[in-house]
Amino acid sequence: MPGPPCLLWLLLAVAFSGVPRAQPLAPQDFGEEEEEEAPRPPGPAVLCDYDRCRHLQVPCNELQSAGPTACLCPGLSSPALPPAPPRLGDVHVVAEDGSAEVRWCAPASPVHRYWLLLWEGGGPPQKSGPFNATVRRAELKGLKPGGAYVVCVVAANAAGESGAPGPGAGGQASEGSAGSAGAGGPALGPCGRVVVPPRPQSLVHAAVGVGAALALLSCGALVWHFCLRQRCGCPRAPPAGIGPPRSPRPAS
Ligand SMILES: *[C@@H]1O[C@H](CO)[C@@H](O)[C@H](O)[C@H]1NC(C)=O
Repeated sequence: MPGPPCLLWLLLAVAFSGVPRAQPLAPQDFGEEEEEEAPRPPGPAVLCDYDRCRHLQVPCNELQSAGPTACLCPGLSSPALPPAPPRLGDVHVVAEDGSAEVRWCAPASPVHRYWLLLWEGGGPPQKSGPFNATVRRAELKGLKPGGAYVVCVVAANAAGESGAPGPGAGGQASEGSAGSAGAGGPALGPCGRVVVPPRPQSLVHAAVGVGAALALLSCGALVWHFCLRQRCGCPRAPPAGIGPPRSPRPAS
């Protein structure tokens, strides 16, 4: 007779003993998961300290590998593709030296080296450089006073080089210049115009030359006039101040 109630009690005891065992397990599990997940996100993502127009700027992909913490180089194109064209910045002409300082900004591409191409009129361009990937400015030398040039900056990596439209495209063209400013605005592409003003010295020389030529001409005219008069006696010389009548010219 005591069998069935004993079994019931045993079952109840097992059931109740299992409940308090299960309850403390659940919070422990959550706690362990939180501790494991906490160190996984590697802090907020930071952009690399990179300015594409800064002279002697270390390339962004080198900053990424060199820094103590990882940083981002957004929009950097694949090294398997030729770089996009750099953007030419200000060109500062020093007329007295026949030189010009050219600045540019890097494209959002891996670049190994840059060089400049300089066109003067027709014919093949002069190349200057190459410059390493950190360089953002260079000096053009030997520019002629009063000369007009087109300069383009070219970027290259192992996959190829960026295009340079050259003077054929008017020096203002670039692939991404759809909304560019008018003719007076800065060029947005890799090319720009360099106009060297004539030297002030050469303007003075020109003025002196023109003056000297005019003086020589008038002296010559006077000498010729008096010699002729002396040689032939000039009895029919008209009174001074009255020249020969001018034939009227039709107004054009
Ligand atoms: C790159 O060129 C500049 C200017 O010539 C120079 O100062 C710099 O040390 C060069 N950098 C490297 C990494 O060669």
